[in-house]
Amino acid sequence: MADEAGVTKTLVLATSMAVVGSTFQFGYNTGVINAPQKTIEQFYNVTFLNRYGHPITASTLNLLWGFTVAVTAVGGMIGSLCAGVAAERYGLKKSMLYNNITAILGAALMGFSELAGSFEMLIIGRFIIGINSGINMGIAPMYLTEIAPVKYRGVFGTLGQFGVVTSMLLSQVLGLRWLLGTPTLWPLLLALTGVFAIFQLAVIPFCPDSPRFLLVKMNKEEEAREALQWLRGNHYDVKEEMNNMRIEHQANSTERKTTIIELFTVSYLRKPLIIAIVMQLSQQLSGINAVFYYSTQLFIAAGIPEEYTGLTTVGVGVVNVVMTIVSLLLIEHAGRRILHLIGLGGMCVCSVILVVLLNLHRTTVISWLTLVPILLFVAFFQTGPGSIPWFITAELFNQSSRPAAVSIAGLVNWLGNFTIGLAYPSINAEIGGYTFIIFAVLLAIFWIFTYFRVPETKGRSINEITALFQPEGEYLGGKPVKTYQKMGCSESS
Ligand SMILES: *[C@@H]1O[C@H](CO)[C@@H](O)[C@H](O)[C@H]1NC(C)=O
Repeated sequence: MADEAGVTKTLVLATSMAVVGSTFQFGYNTGVINAPQKTIEQFYNVTFLNRYGHPITASTLNLLWGFTVAVTAVGGMIGSLCAGVAAERYGLKKSMLYNNITAILGAALMGFSELAGSFEMLIIGRFIIGINSGINMGIAPMYLTEIAPVKYRGVFGTLGQFGVVTSMLLSQVLGLRWLLGTPTLWPLLLALTGVFAIFQLAVIPFCPDSPRFLLVKMNKEEEAREALQWLRGNHYDVKEEMNNMRIEHQANSTERKTTIIELFTVSYLRKPLIIAIVMQLSQQLSGINAVFYYSTQLFIAAGIPEEYTGLTTVGVGVVNVVMTIVSLLLIEHAGRRILHLIGLGGMCVCSVILVVLLNLHRTTVISWLTLVPILLFVAFFQTGPGSIPWFITAELFNQSSRPAAVSIAGLVNWLGNFTIGLAYPSINAEIGGYTFIIFAVLLAIFWIFTYFRVPETKGRSINEITALFQPEGEYLGGKPVKTYQKMGCSESS
């Protein structure tokens, strides 16, 4: 190639449109309800008192707050089902464009809920913002990967995840009591998510749809060429890239797609499907969202003075961002299986240490010491369970069965997210300092499953991996001996 495709200004514009306009919605709304929990619960209590003449009971409040937090995952589940349909019908760009309706509607409902004296509006707002997140997370990472020059495809593929953790940190910083985490400003804090939508609405008219999607999925050759030329700049000859996409288009149009039913009924598809499902469960039932949603409450319970709990929650966000970067570097070199085992094992040990600390005789030192296992818990999460389940899900299936497998994995993921978000406040109210024992047990079970059942995928081609599960394949569970040998020479295949 005479001139190599580079990072142009137009590419940066399209990238920031998708990162800030789409992936920020998910991260921001995951983190935003953490710091102001007590303040908003106060609002629930007052609303209840005004309406029914008596204060809310603690158990109703726990349930109602858990539902407020978790209902976003129900929306996410619906959104992730809509994402594929929307993409087929409207393309990636228009799907992102129209999706801003849900963002602005959700932001408005949350922002005006206090004025209207209605926590129902807040709950519906979070449900709708969940639909927005589900659609965005189904579309934006695909868009980012597809507009990238081949050389940068790996990096661009990780920008989605990076957008999520950065915006989560942003929401935790803005939620500090010196900024928007106050009894009067919290509605503004929740409504700010609408700003990302306004940004996207302003920028998206200048951006094209994904050239690959236009050509391969929609068969619009001329539009695809124009989009590619815009992204790569006028001096770049798009002929070769167009040719490669055309070849892919021909392969794609003759290929039959596996249905979801087949995934469950055909043995060599069911085995990897079960692995993919358990991997997704290991991510969500690890208890990570107990920290992402409820760390402020956890720090208060540990005895850290309330004026500092906003800052310690920001600490969680910082560790999260830093470790995401570290893990993106690690994943190029280390095996998926080993990273997942280290991550789950580390989280399990941290959970046990946390439970011990929470049940020791409370002193100032011990209160502050709880920070260590909580921050390490997040660090270990990002080492493996944060990203590996998605990698493995994609790698266990070939082109024809991957879309169906990924959509099932997505549903399971949101379902796990919902369960923890909803149940944590109530369980925590019952058993307090022992809650993380549940996560420790689950983590141990997932560790054992990974050890015995998950094969190493790094360094193997998709064909080699799928062959493991064929009737004559060598798949006998994880077979550690074999996979360790494989890892040693992982660069060779
Ligand atoms: C609700 O508010 C009342 C006083 O306004 C307070 O006594 C009660 O503890 C609060 N309930 C909860 C569950 O926070």
